Amino acid sequence: MTAEYKVHGDVAVITLNNPPVNGLGYATRIGITDALAQANADSAVKSIVLTGAGKAFSGGADIREFGSPKATQEPNLLSVISALEHSGKPVVAAVHSVCMGGGLELALGCHYRIAAPGCSVALPEVKLGLIPGAGGTQRLPRVLGVETALNMIVSGEPVKSELLASLPGQKLFDKMAASVESLPAEALAMAQEMAVKHADGSALPLVRNLPCKHPLGDAYFQFARNMVKGMSKNFPAPGKCVDAVEAATTKKFDEGMAFEREIFINLMWTPECRALRHLFTAERAASKIPDVPADTPLRDIKSIAVIGAGTMGGGIAMNFLNAGIPVKMLEMKQEALDRGVATIRKNYEAQVKKGKLKQDKYDQRMALLSTTLRYDDLAGTDMVIEAVFEEIGVKEAVFKELDRVMKPGAILASNTSTLDVNKIANFTKRPEDVVGLHFFSPANVMKLLEVVRGARTAKDVMATVMAVAKKIKKIAVVSGVCDGFIGNRMIEQYGRQGGFLLDEGCTPAQVDKAMEKFGMAMGPFRMGDLAGNDIGWAIRKRRATERADMKYSKTADLLCEKGRFGQKTGAGWYDYVAGKRDAIPNAEVVKMIEDYRASKGIVPRKISDEEIVQRLVFALVNEAAHILEEGIANKASDIDIVYIFGYGFPAHRGGPMNYADQLGLFNVVQAMNRFAKNPLDDAEFWQPAPLLARLAAEGKTFN
Ligand SMILES: NC(=O)c1ccc[n+]([C@@H]2O[C@H](COP(=O)([O-])OP(=O)(O)OC[C@H]3O[C@@H](n4cnc5c(N)ncnc54)[C@H](O)[C@@H]3O)[C@@H](O)[C@H]2O)c1
Repeated sequence: MTAEYKVHGDVAVITLNNPPVNGLGYATRIGITDALAQANADSAVKSIVLTGAGKAFSGGADIREFGSPKATQEPNLLSVISALEHSGKPVVAAVHSVCMGGGLELALGCHYRIAAPGCSVALPEVKLGLIPGAGGTQRLPRVLGVETALNMIVSGEPVKSELLASLPGQKLFDKMAASVESLPAEALAMAQEMAVKHADGSALPLVRNLPCKHPLGDAYFQFARNMVKGMSKNFPAPGKCVDAVEAATTKKFDEGMAFEREIFINLMWTPECRALRHLFTAERAASKIPDVPADTPLRDIKSIAVIGAGTMGGGIAMNFLNAGIPVKMLEMKQEALDRGVATIRKNYEAQVKKGKLKQDKYDQRMALLSTTLRYDDLAGTDMVIEAVFEEIGVKEAVFKELDRVMKPGAILASNTSTLDVNKIANFTKRPEDVVGLHFFSPANVMKLLEVVRGARTAKDVMATVMAVAKKIKKIAVVSGVCDGFIGNRMIEQYGRQGGFLLDEGCTPAQVDKAMEKFGMAMGPFRMGDLAGNDIGWAIRKRRATERADMKYSKTADLLCEKGRFGQKTGAGWYDYVAGKRDAIPNAEVVKMIEDYRASKGIVPRKISDEEIVQRLVFALVNEAAHILEEGIANKASDIDIVYIFGYGFPAHRGGPMNYADQLGLFNVVQAMNRFAKNPLDDAEFWQPAPLLARLAAEGKTFN
C-alpha cells in the first residue's frame, strides 16, 4: 500500500508510504482518496490526520511517472486536493522532513497544518522549467504573503519550516510541533481539538478563501518581472511564475487556478522544460552502471592520499577536505609541498574574506591536511589519487611505489587526462584496484568527474568511486578507456571545426560570439585561451605522427609559434590584462589569419551564426555517436551530463545529444551532408557515424 489507513480513537490517520520520498504517484493518489472516503464514511471518525512515513511528508510528483499517462490519470493531484478540501471532517496535515512541490500543494489543500521543525519546504518546479501546477502559485501567496511566496516559487529553493512559521502574519502553519518525534501525538491532539471546534457544523477553513493582495500591485509585479528577466534570460518559467502569482492577486481563485494550469501545460512542452527534465533524469541515471548492481558492497574510504601538489592535486585535495575526509599530500620536494599548501590556504582565505566560509570551518579543513615526502607514510590511507606530470614514465615510477606501499584493497586512482589507464594499471600487480578519476580544472570548482573504467577495474572499485564522487559533491560519469575519454575526445573535433571556420572567413571573436549567443559559457577560442593553446599544439604534434591523415587548420599552430598560449602568457587568440579575464580582440591575430588565408588562395566568405553553431555542435554530436557505439559512454544522457557540467554547454539545450534529438537526427545528418560538400571543410570529417546514420534513417533519437 502506498497510503496506510489507521484509526486512533476518533481520529483517522492517513500515512503516505511510497519510499523514498512519498512521491505522489498514481497508487499513492488513489490511496489517499480511498482512505479519505473511508474516514468520511466512518461515523466513529471525527477528524483526519494526513502525514508521511519515513524521511518525508512528500517530495511531490513521483519522478518515475514523469511524462507517462499515469502522471495525470484520475485522481490527479488537483482532484486529490479537491477531495481534501471537500472532506466534511477536519483534515490536519502533519508535515516533517521534506514538504515539496505537490507535497506542499497537498498540505495547502488541508484545513489545518502542523509542522515539525527542520522540515524543508519548497515549490521547486521552476528547476524543471515549470511552475507549480496544482495550486501552489494561488495558495502559497495566500498563506505567506505575495513577496515571500513569489521568492520561493521563482527560486525553487527550500526554506525551513521554523523560519516560515516565524514570519509575522503567516498562515502556512497553524502550529509548530516541538520535534519530529512529538509530531504524531501533537497532530492527533490538534485533530481532536479541531473536531470539537467544528462539532457545531461551522465551516472548515480553506486557503482558497483567504484574501490575496499586494499593496503596490502593478508596480511590485513590474519590478519583480524585471528582476527575474535579468536572472533567467534563457528560461521562460521564472517569468511565468510572476504572471501566475500576479493572477492570484487579480483574479478569482478558480480563474487563477485555470490560469496556472494553462501556463503549466504550455511550459511542459517547451524545449527548455524538456531539456531540464532530461537533465534531471540524466543526472540520476549517470550514477548507475549497467553491470554494477546497486547493492555492490563498497570499500571503506575514510582517508585519502594525493600525489602531486600542483594545479590539480591541490584542487582535488580541497574536495576531500571540504567533505571532512583527511588528505595526505605527497611531493618530491618540500618546496613543492609548501607551494601546494599555500595555494590551498589562499583559496580558502579568499572564501573566508568573501564570507562564503566561516573561519572555524577553514581551520577544521586545514587540520585535516597533512603532507609527506615519503611513500611509506601513505600505507594507512584507503585511496590514493595521482596528479603528477602527464608523462608515462613518471606515472610508472609513481604507481610502482604505490603498489609497494598501499595496503591491500586500497584504491589507486590516476587523474591522467590523456594516458592509457590500462597501461597505468599494469604498472601494478593489482590492476583491478586501479581506476581513472579525471577531474576538471579548477578541480575544487568544476562539478564534473569522469570515472575511467579500465579493462580490469573491479566492480566494487567502480561502485566505491561513484559513491565517493557523490560525497565530494561531484557529478560522476563513467567513461571507457580511449584517447581523451568522453569530453576531450569530442572537444578535439569541435576545435578542428573551429579552425576550419577561421580558414574560411571567420574571426575568433565572431565564432565565440555565435557560440555564446547559443548559450555556451565560452566560445571555443576563449576556452582555448583559458585551457592553454599549447595543450592542443602538443596533441596535434602527436597526431602528426599517429594520424597524419587528420586535417587541421594551421592557424592554431601559427598562434603557438608566436608564443600566444592564452591567459597564462597574457596573449592567445585574444589579449589579456594581468589579473583580468576579459578577452580583447587582437588585430595582429586577425591579420595572421588573413595572411594565412591569402597564402592558401582562400577568398573569405561571410558565415552565418547559424552555420557556425551547427558545424561546431554537430562536430560534437558525430564524435559522440562514435563514442556511444564503441561503448566508451554507457548512454547518450551521460554525454549530455559531461558537456553541461564540464564544458559549459547551455543547460536550456539539455546537452548536445538532447539538442540533436530535438532538432531531429535526420535534419542533423542532412546538414552534415551539406557541410561535407564544402571544399574548404573536410568531407571525411562529416561522414555520419554509423550509429547516427542508422538512428536518423529509422527516425529514432539518441536518448
Ligand atoms: N591542468 C589541467 O587542466 C588538468 C585537467 C585534468 C587532468 N590533468 C592531469 O592532472 C595531472 C597533473 O596536472 P597538473 O596540471 O596539476 O600539473 P602540475 O604541473 O601543476 O602539477 C604536477 C605536480 O606533480 C609533482 N610531481 C611530479 N612528479 C612527481 C613525482 N614523481 N612524485 C610526486 N610528485 C610529483 C610536481 O612537483 C607538480 O607539483 C596530469 O596528469 C594532467 O594531465 C590536468
